[in-house]
Amino acid sequence: MTTTVLVTGGAGFIGSNFVHMLAELRPDWRVVNLDALTYAGNLENLKGLDGRKGYAFVHGDITKPEDVERAFTSASGAKNLFVVHFAAESHVDRSILGGLPFVNTNVVGTQVLLDASRRHGVARFVHVSTDEVYGSLGATGLFREDTPLAPNSPYSASKAGSDLLVRAAHHTHGFATLITRCSNNYGPYQFPEKFLPLMIANASEDKPIPVYGDGLYVRDWLYVRDHCEAILAVLEKGKLGEVYNIGGNNEVANIDLVKAVLKALGKPESLITYVKDRPGHDRRYAIDASKIKAEIGWAPRFTFRDALPLTIRWYQEQKDWLARVRSGAYREYYATQYGAR
Ligand code: NAD
Ligand code: TYD
Repeated sequence: MTTTVLVTGGAGFIGSNFVHMLAELRPDWRVVNLDALTYAGNLENLKGLDGRKGYAFVHGDITKPEDVERAFTSASGAKNLFVVHFAAESHVDRSILGGLPFVNTNVVGTQVLLDASRRHGVARFVHVSTDEVYGSLGATGLFREDTPLAPNSPYSASKAGSDLLVRAAHHTHGFATLITRCSNNYGPYQFPEKFLPLMIANASEDKPIPVYGDGLYVRDWLYVRDHCEAILAVLEKGKLGEVYNIGGNNEVANIDLVKAVLKALGKPESLITYVKDRPGHDRRYAIDASKIKAEIGWAPRFTFRDALPLTIRWYQEQKDWLARVRSGAYREYYATQYGAR
């Protein structure tokens, strides 16, 4: 195998979708998945890949240079060595409760990974970031790649910090970096603390759906498969040192999303429960994804009309997965197997 990709955070939501997609679209690539298996990492997301030739899992923490070194040892020997960096603390609400794990993994971990990647001669390094680094939009306008960074939550501030370290690695050391900034993803394997799987799970059990504030917050929803295809396109065709926005052209207010999900599930709107707003809640995110279309030829293939029903059906069919994630049962296995944190 001439190409090896070291994926970080491949047991999480987007990372696991990306690893599955590579097995399908680039079956001759070797994939090494480095993941610490935090609460958000779930090896069940990668069922079917274990034991597959060309796939290896390395249990390790990106903030620990010795763990990152082990992953590179496992990835050695390839003609082309790529890194796609997903690993992060990713939930805004958790960052409000405590920012330190976000600084450790997202900022320190990214620098550890950059240093090791340069030492190991990585040919292309894709840093998966977020549109949240741009802050919040009013009723109009779109985030462009040259929109100034103005992060508002400890999560987005830590992601902005990591973006700047990646930028610096390119400018100072000429390291072969690319940054992607995407909007809110949805699809299979998303941890049900995030809004969409949370509302599907709650509604399925006739439990209330907590809507923050007035529910008029807007997100630009991106189907995870579209996102993964965009990342692969950036990895293969992106111009080094550049930033690419990735969006779904799919702006929806939270309350409209809840109503659509309730309707699809045949559940009453009386499940909607308005709760206290998130502090510092960003009003609206929306992406201008014209650069990636013009330079790389990527555009989203899915709209909510197709992919929301697919997503709802996936969670309905994966009731065991959801139950084990919600009960934390999958963590008991890790505690025995890996002593996970
Ligand atoms: P996730 O929380 O589902 O998964 C994160 C993964 O990283 C988990 O498998 C976890 O175990 C692993 N991880 C966490 N800390 C680690 C560490 N110190 N060392 C090694 N592994 C560690 O996240 P996600 O939703 O899949 O997001 C992936 C990336 O995409 C993140 O960088 C996130 O900032 C970015 N992003 C996500 C969204 C979204 O809608 N989910 C939107 C924009 C950007
Ligand atoms: P979330 O999935 O946490 O993603 P992000 O904060 O990165 O955009 O939240 C999506 C939107 O849904 C955001 O506006 C916050 C809102 N939200 C609720 O109204 N209720 C909830 O229980 C959650 C988790 C989120």
